[in-house]
Amino acid sequence: MRVSSLQRLQSRYGAAIDREINSHLVRPGATAGFFGMMSYQLGYVDDRFEPAHSKAGKRFRPLLCLIATEAVGGKAERALRTAASIELLHNFSLIHDDIEDHDPSRRHRATVWKVWGESQAINTGDGMLALAGRLILDSSPDASVTLDISRHFQQMCLTLTEGQYLDMSFEGRDNVRSAEYMDMIERKTGALIAFSLWSGAYLGGAGEETRDALRVFGLELGKAFQIQDDIMGMWGSKEMTGKEAATDLYNRKKTLPLLAALERAGPEEIESLQQFFRCASDDAGAVFSILDATAARSLCEARRTAHLKSAMEALGRTAIDGGAREELEALAHELTGQ
Ligand code: IPE
Ligand code: IPE
Ligand code: MG
Ligand code: MG
Repeated sequence: MRVSSLQRLQSRYGAAIDREINSHLVRPGATAGFFGMMSYQLGYVDDRFEPAHSKAGKRFRPLLCLIATEAVGGKAERALRTAASIELLHNFSLIHDDIEDHDPSRRHRATVWKVWGESQAINTGDGMLALAGRLILDSSPDASVTLDISRHFQQMCLTLTEGQYLDMSFEGRDNVRSAEYMDMIERKTGALIAFSLWSGAYLGGAGEETRDALRVFGLELGKAFQIQDDIMGMWGSKEMTGKEAATDLYNRKKTLPLLAALERAGPEEIESLQQFFRCASDDAGAVFSILDATAARSLCEARRTAHLKSAMEALGRTAIDGGAREELEALAHELTGQ
């Protein structure tokens, strides 16, 4: 069987990332239920807190952080604490996102709010955010590097949440432009992926130019990745996504496929889409027909490919070459379905 670049990186670093995260969840005196819910979200235990054999997340953000460290000549271990913090922060955002998006399943399992209720899911997410923030304060033995990384980390958390605010605010509007959507996904998804690469490069000893080029690589990859997620959210099956099919549509989310269709549709089609999104109609089949007629999917795919190309151009501005360059390129292609 062909091993994907993600699988190769997971087998190289996955166990070390999980060991590092786990060492902060399982501690004497820690409240078992509270940290148990975090462990559930991370895929370590089931809903009775027994060891789980379920699919955990891809862990690609901490992997990107560690590859960036190595790509600029540092040792991956140096960035392990930061990589763990990044995965915790990501999972905080997913726990809250699933409440906000009313999603009952993720990674082929019930979401935290679905198992323990919204109140405890909010607490679990808050706990993970706080833990991520605490770990980032140990990111480097050099206090000035730690301070700089921590400042960027907090800014990134703020930007991500701002992106989530914009995402929700679009639900109540019927005049969202695709440029606004791009700005929103840069914040909700791009910022964290950019931070993962930037901080990894920083901890590996890279100078400002390389750090910045890798940040841009992450930002562009993040946008391509989110567009791919939106494509799958519309057309992917439950087997492929681990979530109920087309929940974005039933939740009346303004994802790119819909905005692309709106920009190309004629007056009657626009009216039909608006009715669906005002909940005046439940005819999802009509929406899919308009998506087909306007070739919305190929427009989204072209956008995704353009951002992946920008990511590659940013990578080309660094001196990273050889195996590390190939790994970053292969991972970026795989994550964006190309
Ligand atoms: C899901 O991210 C959230 C988005 C930004 C689309 P991932 O697809 O990386 O989630 P996991 O951690 O691998 O499940
Ligand atoms: C992804 O949100 C961004 C964050 C969670 C910050 P989505 O709502 O698009 O992601 P999925 O599809 O639920 O994973
Ligand atoms: Mg969601
Ligand atoms: Mg969401």
